[in-house]
Amino acid sequence: MNHPMSDSEPLIFLHAFPLNRSMWAEQEKFFSRFREVITFDWPGFGETPPAPPGKGMSSFVDSLRSEIEQRRVERAHICGLSMGGYAALAFYRASPEIVSSLILCDTRATADTPDVRQTRYATAEVVVREGLTSLIESMPARLLGETTLRERPAIIERVQQMIGTARPAGVADALIAMAERGDSTDLLPQISVKTLIIVGREDKLSPPEEMRPMANAIRNSSFAVIDEAGHLPNIEQPYRFNQILRDFLSTE
Ligand code: MLT
Repeated sequence: MNHPMSDSEPLIFLHAFPLNRSMWAEQEKFFSRFREVITFDWPGFGETPPAPPGKGMSSFVDSLRSEIEQRRVERAHICGLSMGGYAALAFYRASPEIVSSLILCDTRATADTPDVRQTRYATAEVVVREGLTSLIESMPARLLGETTLRERPAIIERVQQMIGTARPAGVADALIAMAERGDSTDLLPQISVKTLIIVGREDKLSPPEEMRPMANAIRNSSFAVIDEAGHLPNIEQPYRFNQILRDFLSTE
């Protein structure tokens, strides 16, 4: 058997929209037995106040850099899910020397289509005007797989509670940052670190057939599909997710 972890570099988890760091609770518990685990809330989510608006994805890159600098981390494994994956790619473009390996979950390298962009602007307006109620009601059906929606009401509730901790201004700013993010497809062939792509088989937002080409475009990558999970496989199937990530981190 491989040693559970082949190095001691920290593992940093980047959360999805519109959740918070607590989405990584099962990973924090499991992986902190082996190495330093870092989770934090993006500005405007969980316990972090919103940042000055209008900085786009660079606000995410700056937040991650400040976590890394405060903790004097030299190199780290970076795992981002969905919006966290957009941030991981943006950070890799800016500072590849800090990244030991990349784990990209339920995300995409392409920019938004014009339709998606318009929907994000409209949602940002609604959230600023009316608060988070519409997101709390609508997001679980988008984020969670059919199996979870059918069988695991506690997960639906957990996701709704996480959304409820966000600040409308932070949510609106993240929506605009995502709408205006660039295309990262050109970056994929330049990624030289070991990369793991994970996706839930029931993911409706970034389905396996969209994520496989992303894995194909990255030289040193592996690809894993998790059954009975949607867009949040780390919450929906934490045991399987942790096994896959542990195996990835254990191999050179
Ligand atoms: C997320 O889970 O972070 C969001 O679904 C990302 C997105 O809306 O593109």
